[in-house]
Amino acid sequence: MSKVSIIGVGAVGTSCAYCLAQKGLVNEIVLLDIKPGIAEGRALDMRQAAAIQRFDTNVVGVTDDYTVTAHSDIVVVTSGMSRKPGMTRNDLIRTNAAIVKSVVSQVAQYSPEAIILMVSNPLDVLCYCAHLVSKFPKNRVMGMSGLLDIARYKSFISEKLHVSTKDIHALILGGHGNTMVPMPRYTTIGGIPLRQWMEKAEIDEVIDRTRMGGDELINLLGTSAWHAAGAAICEMIEAIVCDQKRVFPVCSYLTGEYGLNDIFIGVPTVLGAGGVERVIELELDQEDSIRFYESEKVVKQNVELLKAMMAQL
Ligand code: LAC
Repeated sequence: MSKVSIIGVGAVGTSCAYCLAQKGLVNEIVLLDIKPGIAEGRALDMRQAAAIQRFDTNVVGVTDDYTVTAHSDIVVVTSGMSRKPGMTRNDLIRTNAAIVKSVVSQVAQYSPEAIILMVSNPLDVLCYCAHLVSKFPKNRVMGMSGLLDIARYKSFISEKLHVSTKDIHALILGGHGNTMVPMPRYTTIGGIPLRQWMEKAEIDEVIDRTRMGGDELINLLGTSAWHAAGAAICEMIEAIVCDQKRVFPVCSYLTGEYGLNDIFIGVPTVLGAGGVERVIELELDQEDSIRFYESEKVVKQNVELLKAMMAQL
């Protein structure tokens, strides 16, 4: 059984913690927040919910005390400001990189063997920040974004076609931003290619809505969404603690795959007890390839900005 710490218990951290606690996959969840009392309160509430929902996971809350997170198997980092309407994920780089630098250095100190699962935005850039600060091997630093983006893509397809999301298999590549690359060529419903279900114009509509999926929610809610993100993180944790070898789009570190080096970006990845166990290289057609490398260019530019600011953070 495992210990999972969740740093930052805003809406996403809380949603992930509750999903994980209910599944009973790990024996201890530590919630940590810098705002006094918040993590303790969330944990207390969940322990009381446990009496009704009948789960035994021990949920503990602490205010900024990393000693309690010591020897975690997985540490989820959701800390940082969330986007407000009109902001891009990149507007958050400086503020959130400073936060992530401080969080990850303490995570690395107290849980040197942990797998770090990044969630804070801008996701791809902050994965790189966590990699620089922790100096952990590449299999033990990753980011959650693709599963959330795919969940949105599947839900839009399901709404249009009136079919269950359970039977939709799909893939998204690239950065977690408006340049992400949903892949209709690798999307099937009940084994039948998406292109046999929908005209190109309809597929393009779904793709555009998926790319702007986070923005659509921010405009409705006034802040970023949490239920799907929490569920997606929980699914990745399950794959790791149960060594399931699931194939998910994960923000993984590339060392030559897709001709790219020294970058975190969303790619199909085998997730198991070792964390990122394998990155899968796909053949890209011309259109997908143009989009993927455009997305990579945006991520790379922001990583350069991050590198330039790292020393002053
Ligand atoms: C979203 C934010 C969290 O996509 O990036 O909802």
